[in-house]
Amino acid sequence: MSDRDFIIVVGNQGMGKTVWTIRYLGGFVRRFLYDPVGAYPGFDYRGLDNLHGGEISPRERFSIASPFFEDLPILGNLAFSAGNCTITIEECGTIFRRGELIPNWARRLIFMGRHPRVNLILVAQRAASIPIDIRSQANRIISFRQHETDDLAALRSTLGLEKARQLPTLNRLECFDWHNGEISRYTVSV
Ligand SMILES: Nc1ncnc2c1ncn2[C@@H]1O[C@H](COP(=O)(O)OP(=O)(O)OP(=O)(O)O)[C@@H](O)[C@H]1O
Ligand SMILES: [Mg+2]
Repeated sequence: MSDRDFIIVVGNQGMGKTVWTIRYLGGFVRRFLYDPVGAYPGFDYRGLDNLHGGEISPRERFSIASPFFEDLPILGNLAFSAGNCTITIEECGTIFRRGELIPNWARRLIFMGRHPRVNLILVAQRAASIPIDIRSQANRIISFRQHETDDLAALRSTLGLEKARQLPTLNRLECFDWHNGEISRYTVSV
């Protein structure tokens, strides 16, 4: 059992990643989000203007979102220092550019987020855009339809060969959910 969730949500455009993540986040009251398209209900997208320069108290409830990529390091560091919260990063493939070092704020959340109990949700269109050493830290991987060879190969070690081969045939809103070693297949409802 892990004491926080590190979830990766992948799939082609329009297949259900954001629908899944909106549902998941409904269970949380201390939430950070980076989302360039403003798709999540219940969040305040004023970015760092949400903070009024103040600190986040241990019991405060909040749903702070930013559409601005340049806010990500601050959001990531805030999540780490606030603790007991959830941070969701949409379009996260852009963070891990091939050959570049993982930024420090992201490294802390991925490799040490268990200590301050920060749930981390990374959302990307392509599984292969998330480096293997990061993917291997996740305790849950949700995959909607994928069809590129690299993406299927990236998911083979968790889903197994047979299910990875089925990924291109999933319907819209249908996913495999690999959770601490157990795999289920279901359709999310909007
Ligand atoms: N409130 C809604 N009512 C009906 N259909 C919806 C609703 N929200 C999303 N959908 C549909 O559900 C499907 C999945 O949408 P979703 O936004 O989850 O895709 P996504 O995987 O996040 O795609 P992208 O990579 O473009 O962000 C799309 O076909 C979308 O049109
Ligand atoms: Mg989306």
